[in-house]
Amino acid sequence: MGTLSKALCLLLLFCTLAVAAADVADTGGAPKYKDPKQPLGARIRDLMNRMTLQEKIGQMVQIERTVATPDVMKNYFIGSVLSGGGSVPAPKATPEAWVNMVNEIQKAALSTRLGIPMIYGIDAVHGHNNVDPMLLKRIGEATALEVRATGIPYAFAPCIAVCRDPRWGRCYESYSEDYRIVQEMTEIIPGLQGDLPTERRGVPFVGGKSKVAACAKHFVGDGGTVRGIDENNTVIDSNGLFGIHMPGYYKAVNKGVATVMVSYSAVNDLRMHANKELVTGFLKDKLKFRGFVISDWQGIDRITNPPHLNYSYSVYAGISAGIDMVK
Ligand SMILES: *[C@@H]1O[C@H](CO)[C@@H](O)[C@H](O)[C@H]1NC(C)=O
Ligand SMILES: *[C@@H]1O[C@H](CO)[C@@H](O)[C@H](O)[C@H]1NC(C)=O
Repeated sequence: MGTLSKALCLLLLFCTLAVAAADVADTGGAPKYKDPKQPLGARIRDLMNRMTLQEKIGQMVQIERTVATPDVMKNYFIGSVLSGGGSVPAPKATPEAWVNMVNEIQKAALSTRLGIPMIYGIDAVHGHNNVDPMLLKRIGEATALEVRATGIPYAFAPCIAVCRDPRWGRCYESYSEDYRIVQEMTEIIPGLQGDLPTERRGVPFVGGKSKVAACAKHFVGDGGTVRGIDENNTVIDSNGLFGIHMPGYYKAVNKGVATVMVSYSAVNDLRMHANKELVTGFLKDKLKFRGFVISDWQGIDRITNPPHLNYSYSVYAGISAGIDMVK
């Protein structure tokens, strides 16, 4: 429940952004959770008290756009939809085609009993081989503007892996082998989300209708796998883990990153998707990350080897580890 409240806290922030105009119009008699003038904690409590178990589970699920029919959105109370890699409404789709697609899915999400808008997520920025944080921030701003114009409020960026082995096939997604450069490059986060007002330091933040929620990924150690084998095992002591692979997350959390995506890889043989000590113990409890933690694509399936061996076990292990949204 604690985990779920935090996830819903962020969903509510999105609600405020997405349907602020509608909220203002219907204050009289509207439920508390829809009233932007109420304190956030009161809105969350009100909403949680109204939700059924099915609705709570649905809100923790992100599905691919190709299966996000209006019926599925309504019947399962789906919280979020994504475009998987290369999944587009049409080849070379126009901005209008994106807007129409998002609107269609959103209409179904809003027509459910509680009327909670779904959050559409998209892979928007990959691999920028430059070392100028201010330029990167402007790239974030431009990306946010274009993405948000289509009605999408969430980008799966940035990748803050520290690439420790040039054989790793995803080095192009990493800013550097040097964690200090990776830390500087987290400036893309305020570019995407907007600058954090000082009084809200550490709390997830999206600064208005031309900004999007960012996603620091892949938590943690994805660039440190043995022999650079992608999505494999990072064998490391705590000095290495907290001194090389974690510092990017210290910065990202301080800059108010709204979400964190978990890595397919393992740390010392324990899959990150089942790693309660690092996801809940460190990221949420120690670093006080208050946004939501999202799985990688079918990431919980891959907790077992072979993948999807025992899905109920995977759901149990993943949610217990601290994952708030499963895709
Ligand atoms: C790492 O890769 C090896 C060789 O492909 C594989 O046998 C092993 O299961 C992988 N380990 C993890 C944790 O992915
Ligand atoms: C799958 O996992 C569940 C939960 O841990 C367990 O109770 C069950 O026995 C497992 N099923 C199989 C076939 O291993």
